[in-house]
Amino acid sequence: MSEAIKWVEKDPLKKNVFWPTKAMKERAWVSDESIYAEAKADPEGFWARQAEELHWFKHWDKAYEFAPQNYKWFIGGKLNLSYNSLDRHIEAGHGDRIALIWEPEPVDEEAVKLTYKELHRLVSKLANVLKGLGVQKGDRVGIYLPMISEAVIAMQACARIGAPHSVVFSAFSPDSLRDRMIDAGAKVLITADGYYRRGKAINLKKSADAGAEGTPVEKVVVVKRLDGNVPMNAGRDLWYHELIEGVSAECPAEQMDSEDLAFLLYTSGTTGKPKGIMHTTGGYAVQSYITAKWDFDLHEGDIYWCTADVGWITGHTYINYGPLMNGVTSVMYEGAPDVPDCGRMWAIIEEHKITQLYTAPTAIRMFLKWGDEWPSKYDLSSLRLLGTVGEPINIGAWLWYFERIGGGRCPIIDTWWQTESGATLVNNLPGIGPFIPTVAGRPFPGVIGRILDAGGSPVPAGEGGYLSIFSPFPPALTRGIYGDMERFKVQYFSDYGPERYYTSDGARVDEMGNVRITGRVDDVMNVAGHRLATAEVESALAQSDKVSEVAVVSRPHDIKGEVPVAFVLLKSGVERSDEIRKELIKTVDSIIGPTARPDEIIFVDDVPKTRSGKIMRRILKALVRNEPVGDLTTLQNPGSVDHLKEMVGYSG
Ligand code: WTA
Repeated sequence: MSEAIKWVEKDPLKKNVFWPTKAMKERAWVSDESIYAEAKADPEGFWARQAEELHWFKHWDKAYEFAPQNYKWFIGGKLNLSYNSLDRHIEAGHGDRIALIWEPEPVDEEAVKLTYKELHRLVSKLANVLKGLGVQKGDRVGIYLPMISEAVIAMQACARIGAPHSVVFSAFSPDSLRDRMIDAGAKVLITADGYYRRGKAINLKKSADAGAEGTPVEKVVVVKRLDGNVPMNAGRDLWYHELIEGVSAECPAEQMDSEDLAFLLYTSGTTGKPKGIMHTTGGYAVQSYITAKWDFDLHEGDIYWCTADVGWITGHTYINYGPLMNGVTSVMYEGAPDVPDCGRMWAIIEEHKITQLYTAPTAIRMFLKWGDEWPSKYDLSSLRLLGTVGEPINIGAWLWYFERIGGGRCPIIDTWWQTESGATLVNNLPGIGPFIPTVAGRPFPGVIGRILDAGGSPVPAGEGGYLSIFSPFPPALTRGIYGDMERFKVQYFSDYGPERYYTSDGARVDEMGNVRITGRVDDVMNVAGHRLATAEVESALAQSDKVSEVAVVSRPHDIKGEVPVAFVLLKSGVERSDEIRKELIKTVDSIIGPTARPDEIIFVDDVPKTRSGKIMRRILKALVRNEPVGDLTTLQNPGSVDHLKEMVGYSG
């Protein structure tokens, strides 16, 4: 075992500051501080040097160009994400390495291992199938798949032919799928008959059918994960396994322009309507590749496991493109972490000798709660590095993860980023450190991050402000919101102007430049690692014919980080009851999905409003958190607050 990470107790800023071990320093791709100064002096040159490591059909003419809401990277360059993920390794003679390990939930099913060559073959076949269905470069393709290897195959096949994918989380409702297919204008949808979750076979096809209704979707490709016993819509639905059978495995990768759309991914903003975040090919490829490599210390032979779902950006970048572009083995697990028991995570790590584990604080808190007995039954000595993402991590979870899972020898890479950034932006590097609980660290080399006050001036070290990213923007930063460039401008570039991207996250920085993320400053929640707008839950609840008014706020939760709490005014004549509560939960399930379920529904007579009639969510938030409610003088109905205090048992 390598030497324990040194614990420096005398650090003036934090009690717990950990530094890389000698072994980590020696092994890491970068272990010299100077990388930061070097990248800062010339960010464009820095990113261009990283880009040289990928395969380009045609070299770019210019690295970066800026215009308001129209910044570009690697201008004139031609490349393909799938070529860089697969062909590049095969051409280098590494085609027999394992690209993907897929672990099914039922323990009596064997894990599936696909080499780079095998994955290349399946991807090329599906790419040809899509072409045969009329999909051309630029056409959007919907993917509504669970955690099965075909999800990666489908994304790669789309990338191969230059058809931007739009992946929809499989636990999202048919309504969510429908909205996304309509907004993206997808004519083809790839889905599955179902999947296993907590020992139950979940019928996904039924949701796909309901969601495809009333959309431009003309063809549905169905992967048979279960017994295939689902109704097939003649003329529209086709079995994946039948389609790929008779099709050629030769499909040259499309030469994509750097700025060609690579994919869309819908995410929550502050309104009820999710936005289609656009990522383009060149910048996304470069930043995904190099951040995966440096952040997670990816080397030949590594068996890396990111536990995110493919339906989220973390799954896109750090299950699929990032690790595959690095030629390592990426592990996917289909199901729940407590099947057959609470040791499943650790059993998978032991069985596959996982070297890097990347998961979310909400999962870590759950494992911690389940107890040390589970991880201690397994051999976790293959682990070399741990990662976390999705929400601020609390110190207890950090230290537990570090000691119990990492054995005190693995650095924790706390990566702060967003769907919009496509790849990580703020985290310390394994060979440089330091690793400080609750502190993400410094912006990745070449990323210019500053903490600003509301007026746009940098705040002094130790003080809170808003995290902003400056131009030259990181190459993978979104190029826009699909079909709504005005919203793009207003959301990200109205606070600090076109050269400073507004993240909506609050943060602080210490004297060493380490950033601590304090959380969203808008009405976006992180519920068990899932990003969700309070407005989405509100608009779902408002669709019930029993509800006259509704306000949703987030409340901290021990395991999930945050959960939605709904204040509901029922229509007159509707009796308050648990039945109605259940009905409202069902409404949320069917409109968004179970991830958005309110943790509590509080029936109230009134909610605090401004004189102009706007609901004061700030007050509701303070009430459910037992925090001071602040100034009530501008309220139209200050009396409502006393009533609410009683309802929520307020003691603040
Ligand atoms: C939050 C997920 C603290 C943050 C990659 C951000 C984090 C939102 C961290 C984006 C972290 C993500 N520490 N907060 N390490 N990582 N967040 O788009 O509030 O699903 O704005 O992307 O998650 O969520 P999204």
